[in-house]
Amino acid sequence: MKNDATIRIDIVKAPSSKIKSVDFENLTFGNTFTDHMMVCDYENGEWQQPKIRPYGPIELEPSAKVFHYGQAVFEGMKAFRDNDDTIWMFRPEENFNRINKSSKRLAIPEFPKEYFFKSLEALLKLDKDWIKKGFGNSLYIRPFVIATEPGVSASPGKNYKFMIICSPAQSYYTGEVRVKFSEEFSRAADGGVGFAKAAGNYGAQFYPTNLAKEEGFQQIIWTDANSHEFLEEAGTMNIFFRVNDKLLTAPISDRILDGITRKSLIAMADVYDIPVEVRKISVKEIVEAAKDGSLKEIFGAGTAAVINPINGFGYKGEKYELPKLTESYASFLKDKLMKIQYNLAEDPFGWRY
Ligand code: COI
Repeated sequence: MKNDATIRIDIVKAPSSKIKSVDFENLTFGNTFTDHMMVCDYENGEWQQPKIRPYGPIELEPSAKVFHYGQAVFEGMKAFRDNDDTIWMFRPEENFNRINKSSKRLAIPEFPKEYFFKSLEALLKLDKDWIKKGFGNSLYIRPFVIATEPGVSASPGKNYKFMIICSPAQSYYTGEVRVKFSEEFSRAADGGVGFAKAAGNYGAQFYPTNLAKEEGFQQIIWTDANSHEFLEEAGTMNIFFRVNDKLLTAPISDRILDGITRKSLIAMADVYDIPVEVRKISVKEIVEAAKDGSLKEIFGAGTAAVINPINGFGYKGEKYELPKLTESYASFLKDKLMKIQYNLAEDPFGWRY
């Protein structure tokens, strides 16, 4: 690892831009990528010079460890353009810290902070035209690390690629979202990797989520692996419940991702005098609250989804619908959060970068 003064980003620009072929009014989340990507290789025990290259395929041996043992972690971040054409990111240091925490758990070497921020800034400067103005438009930034060393022995790789790719984004979910409370499958266990953004945490959810989709749900709310009695996290988001005027969310643990949107909402709720309880939430209390009408809202919180209201849930064959509120915590907090992200309001927390 070199020190700050010696970091140089090696840039090869794309010969032409694809931007004119993109319909920015009709984006499907995560399907369109900008002109450039960042690539940094780990070789001979150290991270090499970060490179920016035209976005495109990379070559890997079929025996690369990532394909066999899933040694891969990722992050999700966003950049926003304000009305004066300044580009802002939201709490990127949190993402940087978390990718290294995830890497450590997967025995991947940690990435140097200066490399991360310098290459990210260089990449965003090159692809800044892809960040469109307007509330709801953003650039979704996906840093990730994969083990590239060829060989199928079950041991950590000696070589890695740290990459950053970017995708213009609008909303993650379109339409109503109904969730199923998991009765059988689990996302994470104590001592496992649930707290990390390990690629396998997400891939392992696809099959149970497909089963839930066949029953008319879009997502699963994962329950604890021991008893399935406590509600923990949704597949792509942390989860909040509003019972009467109180917001409830599960505490961070080995099993639950330390979501940046989640912790921002807890801090904002405090400022706006919304009572929040961070504690274990039982399926039983939420089902009872749905039955007696005190369950007012459920919403998910995550970088990609921002704040996504949940319209109903299913448990043990019963379906529960949530009331349609004109003044929901979800829309109040989403508006406040996005105004900070788009530089449309004061940022008393110092979250904008
Ligand atoms: C994010 O919100 O950035 C995530 O990582 C969720 C992802 C699986 C789309």
